[in-house]
Amino acid sequence: MNFTIKTGNVVTLATPVLVLGLFDDGTLPPLTAAVDMATGKALSRIIKAGDIKGKIGDVLLLQKIEGCRAQRILLVGCGKASELDAKKFSKILKHTGSALQKYQLAAATGTLAALGIKDVSMERKAQLLAQSFVTGQYKYLTTKPKASKQFQLDTITLLLADAKERAPAQRGLAAGTAIGKGMNVARELGNLPANICTPTYLSKQALQLAKKHKLLQTQVLSEAQMKRLGMHSLLSVGHGSAQSSALIVMHYCGAAASEKPRILVGKGITFDTGGISLKPGGGMDEMKYDMCGAASVIGVMHALCELKPHMNVIGVIASAENMPSGTATKPGDVVTSMSGQTIEVLNTDAEGRLVLCDALTYIERFKPKEVIDIATLTGACITALGSVCSGLMSTDDKFAATLYQCGIDSLDLVWRLPLWEEYQEQLHSNFADIANIGGPKAGTITAACFLSRFTKKYTWAHLDIAGTAWLQGKDKGATGRPVPMLMEYLLKH
Ligand code: BES
Ligand code: MN
Ligand code: ZN
Repeated sequence: MNFTIKTGNVVTLATPVLVLGLFDDGTLPPLTAAVDMATGKALSRIIKAGDIKGKIGDVLLLQKIEGCRAQRILLVGCGKASELDAKKFSKILKHTGSALQKYQLAAATGTLAALGIKDVSMERKAQLLAQSFVTGQYKYLTTKPKASKQFQLDTITLLLADAKERAPAQRGLAAGTAIGKGMNVARELGNLPANICTPTYLSKQALQLAKKHKLLQTQVLSEAQMKRLGMHSLLSVGHGSAQSSALIVMHYCGAAASEKPRILVGKGITFDTGGISLKPGGGMDEMKYDMCGAASVIGVMHALCELKPHMNVIGVIASAENMPSGTATKPGDVVTSMSGQTIEVLNTDAEGRLVLCDALTYIERFKPKEVIDIATLTGACITALGSVCSGLMSTDDKFAATLYQCGIDSLDLVWRLPLWEEYQEQLHSNFADIANIGGPKAGTITAACFLSRFTKKYTWAHLDIAGTAWLQGKDKGATGRPVPMLMEYLLKH
């Protein structure tokens, strides 16, 4: 799919389809009004007849109308003009993309980016547009090859009112395209079954990406290398599995080597049975998604390779398969982490923190500017926040505020939970420096408390994406979150 930008007369523009917005009180945005005038109020008559109301979700495809050069017109409901904001704009885009696909209209000219939205820049509108259309193209087919393919859009042209808006629109389109592609990569990795998407498979994806892009270098640490580094906490998670664990390190070098890197650390449990603390059977297939943190890191690296911003970013993935077997770690086992702290594994199902803690110690060597870990870490986070936002935890108020705002701006929401000292005592162990579970209360927070013991040397935040990384039910599938929020953070800071 290509995006192009045009400025010119909406009425005399040659295009197979012209997308025009309308509001639900019958008022028309300027470009729609111009077409209405040129067609002798044809649009007003159609709206008066009640063929389309203008609510968000309403769409109506019209044949060519005398007075407007477009072959067809797609009317798209934009709701109440006074309520239009970035969230609603994003919904409108989704319905527009679906309509173009449904009617198999591969090339279209849109006027939606010209809609005036309070506090939303042209760059942002163009970004949301590209992101929406690119992610709308994705459909999982890899292990379902006979399923009908998604209709692919070919060329989307943005018609802008003012030539001065060309540059910001271009920037937004580039960012939105890269973010959308990154999300699709993350979704595909998440959706792949665990018999395909193993730690070794994730390693190969990261190595292949580096082969294609000069700015990226990937290094994969083997189990033997991790053993030498003392990463016994990470290694304890994969002990029961036939699959080898891996620590994947991706260096994106877009700036001088002297510039401190921002580091993203993803939980890459390619399947979480719970181990000896075995999970109940119902819905266990969804634990193939337990590597969605890792997938979001790979998605971000894809987006960076496409956009090539001048900054240094390191993506790290702590990957293992959590299985029960004769060699598996048992409840009560004590392991020594790379940091030297001993950990009592009271529950082998609290494995995410066990792989992450060693990765978080390993990255100290890179002297990071800031670190974010991303993990499908706790079921408790779904109970607390549902699927609307990811959980955000940090001991640094300023960093937390920055990331909260990135969530708002990218429409990929995060909400902060506290990480006060008082919660730390729940991790007390009589047999090790720290226990890997903190009891039934505040499970999302105590999981973050555990991680905080390993992040004292740098500015750090934790994202619990258990509720946001995939959808359940009929539309079961990975969402690609929080790639937009992470890209917002990287590109804006
Ligand atoms: N991967 C799970 C968390 C999870 C569960 C995410 C369901 C999404 C949906 C994690 O490894 C886990 O099992 N966490 C336990 C922690 C508990 C043993 C302290 C949980 O949430 O029950
Ligand atoms: Mn688990
Ligand atoms: Zn898990």
